Amino acid sequence: MAIETSCDETAVAILEDGRKIRSNIVYSQVAIHRPYGGVVPELASRRHVEVILPTVEEALKTAKVKLHQIDVFAVTQGPGLVGSLLVGICVAKAFSYSLKKPLVAVNHLEGHLMAIFLEKEIDFPFIGMVISGGHTNLYLVEDFLKFKGLGQTLDDAAGEAFDKVARLLNLPYPGGISIEALAKEGNANAISFPRPMLTKGEYNVSFSGLKTAVATYLKRHPEALIQDVAASFQEAIVDVLTQKAIQAALDLNVSRLVIAGGVAANGRLRHKMKMAADAHSLKIYFPRPELCTDNAAMIAVAGYNHFKNRDVASLDLDAFSRTLSHDYLTS
Ligand code: KG4
Ligand code: ZN
Repeated sequence: MAIETSCDETAVAILEDGRKIRSNIVYSQVAIHRPYGGVVPELASRRHVEVILPTVEEALKTAKVKLHQIDVFAVTQGPGLVGSLLVGICVAKAFSYSLKKPLVAVNHLEGHLMAIFLEKEIDFPFIGMVISGGHTNLYLVEDFLKFKGLGQTLDDAAGEAFDKVARLLNLPYPGGISIEALAKEGNANAISFPRPMLTKGEYNVSFSGLKTAVATYLKRHPEALIQDVAASFQEAIVDVLTQKAIQAALDLNVSRLVIAGGVAANGRLRHKMKMAADAHSLKIYFPRPELCTDNAAMIAVAGYNHFKNRDVASLDLDAFSRTLSHDYLTS
């Protein structure tokens, strides 16, 4: 069983043999945070406390197993909101201690990258890109538990840029889905927004300039069609992410890519990345959309790898809020 409470989703999943999903329950708090235009940490942790046990019960019921039949408990340790993470960690520790079953700590970003293994086995090495609300990280994944950081965002994460631009366009939170829907009605070539940081051999990205360019454009062109703004913004961010991922694969001579995290649910991104990968004869894999956004099945599959490697946690396990920049996947 895995428990994931790093942000605004309370999620519990049960896997069989570390791969087969028996249940994958995600209780989304979007409705609670929407009036504020973003996640309110205090409200998130309180809601996690209220719904975590019912979510565990639902996961057990769906999987048709009893709590005492669970062999290993995995939990997200970080990065995320500490108050939220602690709710999942306390529950996982209590189960592990009372049932005398091992506890495993999982890095949330590692979970995103491992989600693809819920659907297919991928050969190593591959270039892994996690594109979420809090992170835009590029890795060379050499094996299970062996990740080498190649680059990251220097400012806003890609999902954060979607959310901030959505707010500029008065679209509801979370912004990624709203922008994707609106962009379908717009012209992606209407406005030429900057494609920042496309220097060869440089895998960091920066999106705050793009966000500012959208804000400036809207001020100068109040008559602009928001469909065109949404489509042109989405096209710019997708182009940058595509170029970075493909370039890394070519430079490092790696033939496979795995793209994960909430933004990887974006249809335009999946399409353009697939076209670019095909053009270079690279294989590209995306978890299905509901396994791209936050869920606990991805934490379970990553947790299973740690368990197999005898990497179990002790009861003094603590949450961490950020991944240190020099060490992309601290665990
Ligand atoms: O991975 P995730 O569910 O949570 C974090 O770990 O942050 O990612 C959430 C982010 C949000 O910023 C949301 O706007 C974005 O992913 N997102 C999308 C789409 N669905 C979610 N961005 C673009 N297009 C989407 N379809
Ligand atoms: Zn996430």
